[in-house]
Amino acid sequence: MSRVYIFDTTLRDGEQSPGCSMTTPEKLKMAAALADLGVDILEAGFPIASEGDFEAVDAVSRQFPWVQVAALARASTLDVERAAKALEHAKRPRIHTFIATSDIHLQHKLRKTRQQVLDDAVAAVTLARNYTDDVEFSAEDATRTDQEYLEKVCRAVVEAGARTVNLPDTVGYSVPGEYAELIGRIVNALGDRAIVSVHCHDDLGLAVANSLAAVAAGARQIECTINGIGERAGNAALEELVMAFKTRHDRLPFETGINTERLFPASQILTRFISFGPQPNKAIVGENAFAHEAGIHQDGYLKNPSTYEIISPASVGVPESRLVLGKHSGRHALKKRAEDLGYTLSKEELEEVYHRFTHLADNKKGLRNDEIASLVEEVVARGAATVAH
Ligand code: KIV
Ligand code: ZN
Repeated sequence: MSRVYIFDTTLRDGEQSPGCSMTTPEKLKMAAALADLGVDILEAGFPIASEGDFEAVDAVSRQFPWVQVAALARASTLDVERAAKALEHAKRPRIHTFIATSDIHLQHKLRKTRQQVLDDAVAAVTLARNYTDDVEFSAEDATRTDQEYLEKVCRAVVEAGARTVNLPDTVGYSVPGEYAELIGRIVNALGDRAIVSVHCHDDLGLAVANSLAAVAAGARQIECTINGIGERAGNAALEELVMAFKTRHDRLPFETGINTERLFPASQILTRFISFGPQPNKAIVGENAFAHEAGIHQDGYLKNPSTYEIISPASVGVPESRLVLGKHSGRHALKKRAEDLGYTLSKEELEEVYHRFTHLADNKKGLRNDEIASLVEEVVARGAATVAH
């Protein structure tokens, strides 16, 4: 069975998009949720971009020594050195260096020739290898790059020591068959000298489909984010990819190391730190992903859930009961729901949450998950409850 590595970039590509910035303590809590989820590589930031990014990479490296932590760097000496410095305390550091390779970017953004870009890429990888054996190179805008030139760059960076070569669909332009052909070509060219990685944006709503097609063509690392956050329309959603492999193993015979029961809690934790949650009909983690309203559907579902559900809510950590908690609910149910939402409460905190809950529930029909989450959040903010990990 082939293993696919999950490279999470929630704290880098995700965090750099509008409405998604997080403080270092929030990033650390999110990193705990990602470590708990079992991501293979955790991209914690772009150290040269800001002090906050540098601090986050450094803090995640120190706090999660068992995790492979990546830091982004443009293909320049200053960037690579800054990334290396931020990763100084990481036990498993990865420097991820990139440069655009498409003519559109070369002419309008970089104002460099193809040869200059190739030289910069090789120099950055060579420099990064002085700091760590684990170097990834990304050819930004790979899907709009001349393929012969792209192959030349990929061969050269592998020769210089890159162990992972990423071919991003930076602007979400590709379609599955086309992307699979490109990936197949580069997998063939590199053989077992490097892992080919994919990084798809969702501008045409194809990020997950493109990533899956790429894996079928030989890619073995996928870059993705929780809830699909990321630049513009976002990145491929981690939860959708992982559940596609798990649910359609017959057609997609690949393994990931993800603990799928932690998917929903990770999505909830992220939602609390950024300014928006997944849309209600979002696959796997949306509020309606396991809700049934139409009479025919409810009838079928009650007779046997498999009539209308291809995934069991429990397998992705969605609270068993879709029922709201009301004034007759007890501490036990409240504690369990808080855990499902990503919180472990101490006895005192549970008492405090319960006290406030009964007060609120008295005046309402019941409380939804988001209302319970903000109640818990208020108590947590005052004291010592910890995010479950
Ligand atoms: O979308 C992109 O090309 C990127 C690279 C920096 C990997 O985010
Ligand atoms: Zn990106």
